[in-house]
Amino acid sequence: MTSVAPLALEEFRLIRELILKYCGVVLTDDQRGYVERRLRDRLAFLSLSDFRAYYRYLRFDPAGPQEIEDAAESITTHETYFFREEYQLRAFRDEVLGALYDARRGARRLALWSAGCSTGEEPYTLAMLLLEAGIPRGWDVRIFGSDLSRRVIAHARRGIYGPSSFRACPDRYRSQYFRPTSDGQHEVSREVRALCHFGQLNLVDAARVALIGKLDVIFCRNVLIYLEPTARRAVVDQFYRRLSPGGVLLLGHSESLLSMTTAFEPVVLSSDLVYRRSAQQVESLPALPESTVEAARASAEGDPARGGR
Ligand SMILES: C[S@@+](CC[C@H](N)C(=O)[O-])C[C@H]1O[C@@H](n2cnc3c(N)ncnc32)[C@H](O)[C@@H]1O
Repeated sequence: MTSVAPLALEEFRLIRELILKYCGVVLTDDQRGYVERRLRDRLAFLSLSDFRAYYRYLRFDPAGPQEIEDAAESITTHETYFFREEYQLRAFRDEVLGALYDARRGARRLALWSAGCSTGEEPYTLAMLLLEAGIPRGWDVRIFGSDLSRRVIAHARRGIYGPSSFRACPDRYRSQYFRPTSDGQHEVSREVRALCHFGQLNLVDAARVALIGKLDVIFCRNVLIYLEPTARRAVVDQFYRRLSPGGVLLLGHSESLLSMTTAFEPVVLSSDLVYRRSAQQVESLPALPESTVEAARASAEGDPARGGR
């Protein structure tokens, strides 16, 4: 096995620039040790003995773009579990969902997006809540789950989870919507699965995000905190464009749109705050140029908008 030289500050700064440009994730100087530990296996896998060679590989090797994806996947946090921040989910089910069904009764269609869904616990939780609340007969209800990492999306599609994913999941949901597997894990039921569609998507790739159809609800929880402010702002602008008038955006408990944008109206619920695209506004942000969207359309693959499961 190749032994790897420590990650020098200069090398760290070069690599973090590439990561920032690729996915908007910001790394601070004090995360150098963490990045070194996370990337060591990548260097060993590629038989590279130092990070300068790894940087050159990322920049100039034909396989560099794929490797940046793998590096970003190794560095980003994928922590998630069913019923995370349950108070917010309850507020969504009890105070938002009914009003949305009412507002969309003409189209009989509801589209939800879990942006940065990691291994899928969040979109499957939403599916359980929707099923529990009752989906009106004849409605087309869909949940898209997307993430930067192909590995976590593959896990989400598999739909099999170990005990740590259930740490906040009330038992009754596990018994009702999962089937135990022979190795002590649990597999999500067909009924829940049928509502969820997954795809790999980089949120800073505005042209690909623009291919997603109109949405009524966007959950983007515990993702924006990792992004650099400009990327964060651009992602939120895209969310605004993707939401239908009256649609809502829900962020994680430590995230807010404060001092980022005033395009959304904050809506105070009993135990949460959500952001709504006003039902009156038509479009307060300019659309992306059609040529950018066309280029993305040509290269799109496994897109949540295309319903890849
Ligand atoms: C901490 S997890 C959050 C999962 C889930 N939303 C939750 O709250 O439990 C953050 C996820 O965001 C994803 N992510 C980070 N930057 C991203 C980007 N630019 N585009 C898409 N996903 C991204 C990561 O891959 C990771 O799986």
